[in-house]
Order: sequence, then structure tokens, then C-alpha cells
Amino acid sequence: MTFPNGFLWGAATAPHQVEGNNTSSDWWLREHGQLPSPHPVESPSGDAADSYHRYPVDMRLLADAGLTSYRFGIEWARIEPEEGFVSRAQLDHYRRMIDTALALGLTPMVTLHHFTNPAWLARDGDWRNPAVVDRFARFVETALPILSDVDLVCTINEPNMVAIMANSSEAFPHVGLPAGDPVVTENLIAGHKQAVDILRGAGKLAGWSVATQAYQPEPGAEQAADDYGYSREDVFMDAARGDDWIGIQAYTRTRIGADGPITIPDAAERTLTGWEYYPGAIEFGIRRSWERNGGVPIYVTENGIATADDARRIDYTTGALEGILSAIADGIDVRGYLHWSALDNYEWGSYTPTFGLIGWDSETFERHPKPSLAWLGGVARAGAL
Ligand code: BGC
Repeated sequence: MTFPNGFLWGAATAPHQVEGNNTSSDWWLREHGQLPSPHPVESPSGDAADSYHRYPVDMRLLADAGLTSYRFGIEWARIEPEEGFVSRAQLDHYRRMIDTALALGLTPMVTLHHFTNPAWLARDGDWRNPAVVDRFARFVETALPILSDVDLVCTINEPNMVAIMANSSEAFPHVGLPAGDPVVTENLIAGHKQAVDILRGAGKLAGWSVATQAYQPEPGAEQAADDYGYSREDVFMDAARGDDWIGIQAYTRTRIGADGPITIPDAAERTLTGWEYYPGAIEFGIRRSWERNGGVPIYVTENGIATADDARRIDYTTGALEGILSAIADGIDVRGYLHWSALDNYEWGSYTPTFGLIGWDSETFERHPKPSLAWLGGVARAGAL
């Protein structure tokens, strides 16, 4: 039950979900009715967890618990709030975050794009407009100087979800997901490849993180499951061939029958997002990536559960880690586990699904670490379950 030496143990966040007041982003416009939204917006993000100011407290809690890594993002909408205008002060802000992580002994993994775009980009066709490829490359070049002593850089988080959310012609079904928008898919892959070249040229270890949904076929529906998963997942995994690493993220599974996704049975336990409680999802995603992309090292860049019952979080994570150990025992090169999420956060339209190892008071922002944080830190310190 032991993890390899040097295995990275951490937690992850995304800028828009924890920082607060990301006012130059497309999501802020969406939350305030100025752009259409793929999801119903129950509440705006507002101050979020105010991690923009409180990141030193958050990082110290992770480090003190025993974790060795923090995955966080730098926000394009803050760094380039108008096309071509670069905020030096915002670059300095993110450089201070990197310094803080390093000083605390947390290996930073920095994400360059996590769902949000600058509002100006959204107004000009976002990822549908092929100009985004060069625009994103320019942003990567702009960010490069502050990444000087960062090794692990994630270009784009869950490009498959970005392509799926961009598919406005298909409504979100009751089960499963719409197919990825083909133009957006193409631009994301081109944007990633160009970013990888820039980052590698500067000596970084570059990859991207793919959302996996454990598309499990019912007997006889193997081909249907493969077809269903292709535009929603596999095309993005395949684009990671030759990268330094791939991030695998998983929360739940989707069972596929001959006619497509099957409704979750009433008897199944569900989490606060309505997803089936299924700790085995991450092992499934890891094995799938290894089969398609054998040889590309894997980091689990997100995995977790929205629950108000922290004991279920520990149980879920135990199951996920057991699956990871079994994949490692079969020779799959898994190099780290970054739990989603460090903090309860803005779940794209709502604060109700709580994914955090750390809670916080919505009036004072005071942090309340949950027992799961100490538990995961203990696993990290022991390097074993
Ligand atoms: C995303 C996160 C999100 C989480 C839970 C992933 O899709 O990268 O931003 O909060 O899953 O839904």
C-alpha cells in the first residue's frame, strides 16, 4: 500500500473559483446576465473565498498538514484585462504566489487556463475564433518570466469540458454530456500544442488535464461507449501524446448502453452535484489514458467529491487512492495526486456543492480545515495508505 518515492501530494484550485472579483472575465459577465451561460447561474462568484488575498494562509494550511504540492492557476483575464494590455502588478501577484508556495515547500503546478477567458476574448468569438491560438500563445509568452522556477505547467484545464460547454446547439442532457464543439476542439488542440512548444523551449514540463467520465459499456455496448467517448474525451487524451505528462481528472462514471448513457439507478448514492458516488472513476481514467497514450506519465490533477459529510470525502478518497495503487502496481507511471479541492469554492454557478478540504466562513473568510485535510496530509507523510 506504498506510493513511489517522490510521489507528489497536493490539492488544487482554479483562480475564478477561489479568488473572488474576477471582474474582467467572461464568467463574471455570465454571472451578471451579460453573456449567455451553459449552466443556470444560481449565485454569482462575488468575493469567492478571497483567496486572491488569503493565499498565504491557504498554502500554509496545506503545507502544515503534510502536503507537498499546490496546483493553482494564473488568471488570463487579470493579466491581460484588455487585449494587448499587460498588468505588471498582476504578474507580480502571481509571482508572489509561486514564491510563497516554494518557501513553504509546496511544489507549484501552475495552470494557465481554467475555464475562464478575458471578457474581450469572449466578445470576439472566444475559442471559436482561430485567432485564439496566437492570442493564447502570446499570453503564455507573457507569463513565462514569472514561471522561471516552476517545472510543472498545465496549459489548459479540461479542454474537453471547454469544447462541451461551447456546444450551444445541444442542451445539457439529463444523463451524459453534449458532444464537444469540433471547431473549439481543433483550436484548443492547436493552442495546446503551440503552448507546449513555448513552455518546453523554456525547459518546463508541459501537459494538459483531461476530464474523464469512466464511460463504462454495458455488455455488448463496447463500440457505443467508444464512439460516445471519442469527441468528449479521447481526442484530447490522444493530443497529449509526446507531452511531458498528462493530467487525469475524474469524479464519477457514466454507464453506456446501446442507446447511449444510462440513468443512475435510484438506489445509488449521489453526491451534492447529483453524480454517482464512484471512487473507482480515477483508476478507470488512468488506465484509459495509459492504454491510449502508453508512456506519457500521469498526474492525477483533480479528484474529489462534493459532500457535506467529510467522512464520505475520506472514504471516497481512500477508494480512489486504492485504485491508483492498483494502477501503479500494474506498472502505470502515476506521479502524483492533487485532490480537488483545497477549498470549498465556486462550483460554476453555485456555492452549494462543497468539494473542499478546507471550509471558510462566508462573512469573515476565516478558514476551517476539515478532518479530511489532516487525513490526506497523514497519508502524504506516510507515503502509504
Ligand atoms: C473542473 C473544476 C470543477 C470540478 C468539479 C472539474 O470539472 O476542473 O473547475 O470545480 O471539476 O465539478
